[in-house]
Amino acid sequence: MLYNVGDMAVFLSHSPAETRAWAQNYAKSLSAGDVVLLEGEMGAGKTVLAQGIARGLGVTEDVLSPTYAYVNSYAPLFHFDCYRIESERQAEELGFADYFEAGKICLVEWSENIRGLLPEHCKRVAIRKVGDHAREIVT
Ligand SMILES: Nc1ncnc2c1ncn2[C@@H]1O[C@H](COP(=O)(O)OP(=O)(O)O)[C@@H](O)[C@H]1O
Ligand SMILES: [Mg+2]
Repeated sequence: MLYNVGDMAVFLSHSPAETRAWAQNYAKSLSAGDVVLLEGEMGAGKTVLAQGIARGLGVTEDVLSPTYAYVNSYAPLFHFDCYRIESERQAEELGFADYFEAGKICLVEWSENIRGLLPEHCKRVAIRKVGDHAREIVT
């Protein structure tokens, strides 16, 4: 189900598969160099969104949460999980700025932790749990 609230588009998903399908279609709106902030609580579905976007960009490998690696690299995209980043300085030392400037699509979970390092113009996808299997996706 899709509806609009002012400038925002809201999609109501009822399953991980539906979220992935939405994200796969959303991927068509992205271009090289875009940085997409995936926002939402733990377990909301940020990584599920990343899986769908990756599929939409032609990635055939499994996209897993990079919680321990911080960033996973696929041909057209980087997938960041900044949950365990302790400081912007640490992120800087890990070379995040270079990733953002590499001209690939960047998907960022927990961007709250690296706010000062984000490029000026980022896209946002917010996902929110509204039931056991229901999620509200807002762009
Ligand atoms: N409609 C839905 N969309 C996305 N995930 C869902 C949905 N319903 C249930 N889930 C479950 O919620 C969890 C989301 O996990 P994950 O994507 O790793 O969250 P996050 O990365 O935000 O911490 C998964 O276990 C997934 O199966
Ligand atoms: Mg995740």
